[in-house]
Amino acid sequence: MNVRSVAELAHSAHGPMRRAISRHPLVIDMAEIVVVGGGYVGLCTAVAFAEQGHRVTVIDVIPEKVARIKQGRAPFYEPGLEESLQRLISARVLDATTDLAASVRKADFTFLCVGTPQGPDGSQDLSYLRKATEEVGKALRNSQRSHVVVTKSTVVPGTARDVVVPTLEHGSGKRVGAGIGVGSNPEFLKEGTALQDARHPDRIVVGATDETTRAAIWSLYPGASCPRIDVDCTSAEMIKYAANAFLAVKISFANEMANIGDKLGVDWNHVVRGIGDDPRIGHLFLRAGIGFGGSCFPKDVAALSHVGREARAPSKLLDAVLEINERQPLRVVEMLEAALGPVQGKRIALLGLAFKPDTDDVRESRARPVWQALVARGAEVACYDPRASRGFSALEPRADIRTTLAESLEGAHAAVVCTEWPEFHGLAARPDAPPVIIDGRRAVAPGGRSRYLAIGDGGAR
Ligand code: UGA
Repeated sequence: MNVRSVAELAHSAHGPMRRAISRHPLVIDMAEIVVVGGGYVGLCTAVAFAEQGHRVTVIDVIPEKVARIKQGRAPFYEPGLEESLQRLISARVLDATTDLAASVRKADFTFLCVGTPQGPDGSQDLSYLRKATEEVGKALRNSQRSHVVVTKSTVVPGTARDVVVPTLEHGSGKRVGAGIGVGSNPEFLKEGTALQDARHPDRIVVGATDETTRAAIWSLYPGASCPRIDVDCTSAEMIKYAANAFLAVKISFANEMANIGDKLGVDWNHVVRGIGDDPRIGHLFLRAGIGFGGSCFPKDVAALSHVGREARAPSKLLDAVLEINERQPLRVVEMLEAALGPVQGKRIALLGLAFKPDTDDVRESRARPVWQALVARGAEVACYDPRASRGFSALEPRADIRTTLAESLEGAHAAVVCTEWPEFHGLAARPDAPPVIIDGRRAVAPGGRSRYLAIGDGGAR
């Protein structure tokens, strides 16, 4: 570990960076960092650390993924990621391998960024995290070097204490505290802007088992001018859940209010304009539509609800948030039927398959329940997405996927918009616009001759 004194670093720094540095007892100039997991969190974390001059090795269990990363190719679409990987791999500051043990033995830090999927009862499946932690522990068994293990994966509160610490101790045969530190440093990045979020976080949360470990983790963020929050590991884990749960609450709230407004002829966007300037409310994350998807909100809200039930503190609110979210995609189907009559035999263009724009990720995409409901009612559905077609085909092999927007609109009686890709903005004005447009994301600009209905517009257009 190459440690520079605070005085030395603070001397060369200015403004917020100087203040931030002076709060921490040591600064690590160039650390050897292992990042376990080559998903969004892992790769963006790896890029951000490598760009700061650290040497980073990404570990993944899938050899094909490792081979791709080594060639500077991103395993998924995320703006800017591939270019950054290429640059850092050519500069030899970033590498990837399947060999966890050898990499951990020569490293100062391991960041655990493995997946934490949802179990059948909504609980979090921590088996990847346990396995990775056990392997890190084993790698540290005969090592004399001090090492810090930090969880960045979203893990249920208590995981560092009840899983990471005991598993590391079991694997390594050492006590945490004696040369091994454990920390929790949750990640708040959003797909589509994941790299930017990793490079410029809006806050950094650090939990640690002891103060030396805490200082070591902070030393990796010497220049960050955002708020820095010091807590214990369990609070850090809860912060991540509370953040995602609150955002999900906002979305389900917006959807429920918009549904009421639709019955009363009220445009929800006008309401948000009227409430959003109250600093206690804000304008963001109040967009009404077909609900939230992705790999985080649905799974995290279910896991937190499960944790609450287990702890005998069940949350009616979280359960309601999920229930509203399950119902919401069917709203566009109801609106479609109200406009067209039964959809049996009708040709419907389903526009947008990704769970949000600027990603090819279809996990928990709200387009999927819409597609299923339409197909179950006998509609002929032609799907289109600028990036996520392949992922959607893997989930729904029977889906009729078209390669262009124009193809999906051919002969369509209606279009249903499920993702706010910029390409759909001008849909209403196109000469081939279908007679009916149902907008599940308020993505389409006014204009044209189509009948337009959107969730939350109160029948405004
Ligand atoms: C979310 C959080 O925003 C991140 O802070 C967090 O780090 C991440 O989960 C995670 O836990 O890893 P992400 O799932 O990438 O990020 O995407 P969001 O931009 O939050 O969107 C999630 C879903 O909510 C999308 O389907 C989006 O369409 C929907 N949404 C969002 C709405 O329906 N209405 C809104 O007003 C905002």
